[in-house]
Amino acid sequence: MTKFVKVANLADVPPGERIWYDFADETVVIFNVNGTLYCVADRCTHDDGPLGDGTFDARNCEIHCPRHGAIFDVRTGEALAMPAVKPVPTFTVKIEGDEIWVESPDE
Ligand code: FES
Repeated sequence: MTKFVKVANLADVPPGERIWYDFADETVVIFNVNGTLYCVADRCTHDDGPLGDGTFDARNCEIHCPRHGAIFDVRTGEALAMPAVKPVPTFTVKIEGDEIWVESPDE
């Protein structure tokens, strides 16, 4: 059964912004794209770069890795530009009232 963890309140991540949350096994980044929240691992699939530190292009739903420039779709995790070719893991986000809950990547 999928376990969800409360990671923040909606007010903590306005549209166009992002926040990080440290699970035991994985740090994740939650992005607000025009009011819809998406969550991906904070770990580039090219060479483990700190993906969430890169440029967040909310208009195009993209995060650009700060290390070598790979681009990922924050909605799907798909790698859109080299040098990354593998998708970044994504995690389901749900909203309960004004709380943000994320699917736990922990085993
Ligand atoms: S570590 Fe992200 S592009 Fe290389």
